[in-house]
Amino acid sequence: MIPFNRLGLVFKIFASFIYPRSFRAVFSSVLQKVPKSGAVLDIGSGTGILSRFAYDIRKDLLYTMIDPAAGMLRFAPGFGRKVIGLAESLPFRRGFFEALFIGDAFHHFGKPQKAIEEITRVLKPKGLLVVFEIDPGAVVGALITWGERIFREPAHFYRPRHLAGILAENGFECTISHYGWRYAIIAEYNGFRSP
Ligand SMILES: C[S@@+](CC[C@H](N)C(=O)[O-])C[C@H]1O[C@@H](n2cnc3c(N)ncnc32)[C@H](O)[C@@H]1O
Repeated sequence: MIPFNRLGLVFKIFASFIYPRSFRAVFSSVLQKVPKSGAVLDIGSGTGILSRFAYDIRKDLLYTMIDPAAGMLRFAPGFGRKVIGLAESLPFRRGFFEALFIGDAFHHFGKPQKAIEEITRVLKPKGLLVVFEIDPGAVVGALITWGERIFREPAHFYRPRHLAGILAENGFECTISHYGWRYAIIAEYNGFRSP
């Protein structure tokens, strides 16, 4: 497994480079749709890079960052609440959040379907989900997939349309944007999972 607990400083310094400027522009426009003072959750937040991007644009939002690695959260910014925990068992009540962010973390979740169930539980109807991921169909993405398997990580990498399809089955309307070997899915939750 990747020892995230010991990698906080490394991620704090380098992890933002994975997010291209064009994604940040898309992310900014999504953030404009979040209601004033809304609660947002950064899942698998690590050192809170996505929350930091968001805070630069929306200081009014109420930020929570959740990650199992205390050594990553230690380097997360002080403006948000920090919670040690897993995507598969989010310790928040139903419909609490206006928006959820998952940056470069979904493929680390041991039980992706369980994580999606939790995501749909804590997100309000009409709430927004932003997933930033690595495309295993691109050469760099395939190498990262291979590397993570060597580290015995879950490596649940999905092609963009595959992940968007899974999210659609769980009640999301998705838009995909591509950034070479990375992609983002911006999704709105309609409040109903298919039976
Ligand atoms: C590659 S890091 C990305 C961190 C951060 N989102 C960023 O963009 O820098 C992946 C993070 O997922 C976390 N993680 C691993 N398994 C998880 C799980 N089941 N639930 C939530 N987070 C998890 C790790 O501890 C790690 O901090």
